[in-house]
Amino acid sequence: MSARAALLMLVLAARMAVADEGHDLFTGQSVAVSDQSAERKLARFPCHRCHGRDALGGVEGDVPPIDWRFLSRAAAGRPAYTVELFHRAVTEGRDAGGRELSRLMPRYALSEGETAQLANYLGRLYDLQRQGVSPDEVRIGVADLPFGDDLSGIYRTTLAKALEDRLGGDHVYGRRINLVPVDPANGEADSLAVLGLSVAAAAVFTNRGIPVLAPIGALTGDEDSSIMRGIAPSREALHAALATRIAEAGTGPVAILASDDAERHALELALSLAAPGRPIASHSNDAEDIIALPGTDLNVAPDWTGRVWITWQSVAQRMPLPQKAKVMVAIETPRIIDTAIAAQVHPLVIHAQQVGIMLAEALKAAGRDVTRAKLLQALADTVLDDIGLDYTQVPLTGTDHIALIQLR
Ligand code: HEC
Repeated sequence: MSARAALLMLVLAARMAVADEGHDLFTGQSVAVSDQSAERKLARFPCHRCHGRDALGGVEGDVPPIDWRFLSRAAAGRPAYTVELFHRAVTEGRDAGGRELSRLMPRYALSEGETAQLANYLGRLYDLQRQGVSPDEVRIGVADLPFGDDLSGIYRTTLAKALEDRLGGDHVYGRRINLVPVDPANGEADSLAVLGLSVAAAAVFTNRGIPVLAPIGALTGDEDSSIMRGIAPSREALHAALATRIAEAGTGPVAILASDDAERHALELALSLAAPGRPIASHSNDAEDIIALPGTDLNVAPDWTGRVWITWQSVAQRMPLPQKAKVMVAIETPRIIDTAIAAQVHPLVIHAQQVGIMLAEALKAAGRDVTRAKLLQALADTVLDDIGLDYTQVPLTGTDHIALIQLR
């Protein structure tokens, strides 16, 4: 075997070691199954959406638990499932006793191998849900921030202190909370959840079923709140806030500068909803309002006199701004920025404090038998007035509050 082929084998072997097909089938993500229609159906109706991330059912109405500990025992009106009977239930919609399942339960054209993978995953799920939890300890992963060791250290210490202050000690339900380092590139963590990741690094973890809390940066707004919860408004909230304020500000053409096409389309959509009559300018010079997102080049004539709408990041990155324009700045984390300015500390310190508070409350609410799914579910009912987070109103991020201030 050539050196190159050997290397390829190694890479493939490494990939196979980390891929969890059962998990991917259960969550309907990046699955490649033999039947195309089943693949589409899994993507649209993943098992966890109805049966829960922990497969304990009851997400809505009468959805039964399908954790293998339940399926492998006889239950109300049906005998125990075998892998074969499970295959029949998933593909033909008949339960272990032959009863036809309601149409609320989709039928999936999966192969025997594929349903066996699913059954295997459902058998491991009880332990997977409790990763990082032992009788005397609960481990929470904290990734190293991409801003250098000093800040990472301060982030971790601040987080630990905020947790302790909120819990009145470093224990919850008799377990010591152990903050353990996590390599953001690795995507593996023997912990209940992971904190301190950038938004870009989060998917590697959530795609493997590891919950991510309060990633740093703005979420898109499309993320799944059963595996991820933020503490800062999403891009979607930013778009809506910008669109609403621009709709109020004038009637002329609007130019949208975004480095990402999808984001420009999303902004155009938000604007067409908030200000249906306003045309989109193809050249910035013709616009009355220009939205210039970070990383774009704001190129207008020196005597242009409209309004420019930018975000806090662009101010921090010193985006050059036209001399005669009015400048409006969207601050996506107003509470964090305000508190940081008042306390004269780095905004990430305030971020760490808020994450500590959020995690403390989630751990308390999740109860003694904490699992990954319960930690996330507990947040669904969490309202934290003191730090401006209300997950009952905004399930994914707890807040959609964007401050828009006039810079000049
Ligand atoms: C759209 C919601 C929904 C999705 C998605 C869904 N199910 Fe179901 N499932 C149900 C409901 C509702 C029932 C109960 C039906 C009944 O009892 O008539 C059920 C029943 C079952 C049962 C029978 C349980 C028992 O105790 O007999 C199994 C097994 C099952 N589902 C497995 C799966 C698997 C595996 C997936 C993903 C491939 C999945 N379900 C996706 C809603 C769903």
